[in-house]
Amino acid sequence: MIRLLVGILVFVINVVYRNRPYPRFYVLETVARVPYFSYLSVLHLYETLGWWRKIDWLKVHFAESWNELHHLLIMEELGGDGRWIDRFLARHTALLYYWIVIGLYLVAPNAAYNFMELVEQHAYASYDKFLIQEETHLKTLPAPQVAIDYYRDGDLYMFDEFQTAQPPAQRRPEINNLYDVFVAIRDDEMEHVKTMVACQQPDAHLQFSSPHTPQLQTEVAGN
Ligand SMILES: [Fe+2]
Ligand SMILES: [Fe+2]
Repeated sequence: MIRLLVGILVFVINVVYRNRPYPRFYVLETVARVPYFSYLSVLHLYETLGWWRKIDWLKVHFAESWNELHHLLIMEELGGDGRWIDRFLARHTALLYYWIVIGLYLVAPNAAYNFMELVEQHAYASYDKFLIQEETHLKTLPAPQVAIDYYRDGDLYMFDEFQTAQPPAQRRPEINNLYDVFVAIRDDEMEHVKTMVACQQPDAHLQFSSPHTPQLQTEVAGN
């Protein structure tokens, strides 16, 4: 079922949007962040019912959705959402995936994380291929302002917060042109893969924490 879900998404993105990269990435970013909303919805439900409180999981999944939101904003600034049919397809597919992943996460959370691991791997490979094909052209184009603010000039707390494989402030992308922006997006997708792998570990319920949590604990202990 997981492979079927990923396969449908990959088919739509690779075949239907073969020669239109920005609409293709717009659809990918619209649909591929929705599972993080599903995880958050179910975790909020568990917390509301008093069954489970894991604030780090909520923080990290929200930071992941925040990262994917910025990928989406970049694609919108590049004109990827210009056609009504693309917005229609992306949003309705996203709605379907939201409810499917809700069901999957309720009955088999590791399968839901494995699903996103595969989707993020696909996203990484798609951007990597695009970078190789379009390197020369992309280096002549300016970076969108939203990318400059998110990766370079703004508050980078949320940028660090989804990258659970490393301490905060380790990754600081260089953003001078559109090529740099796509490198940053591609590398983000691999950080999502690592976070999804961490979520599937047998001891994740004991070990998993947001990148800023140890720092916060140290600060609290020092006061
Ligand atoms: Fe993305
Ligand atoms: Fe992603």
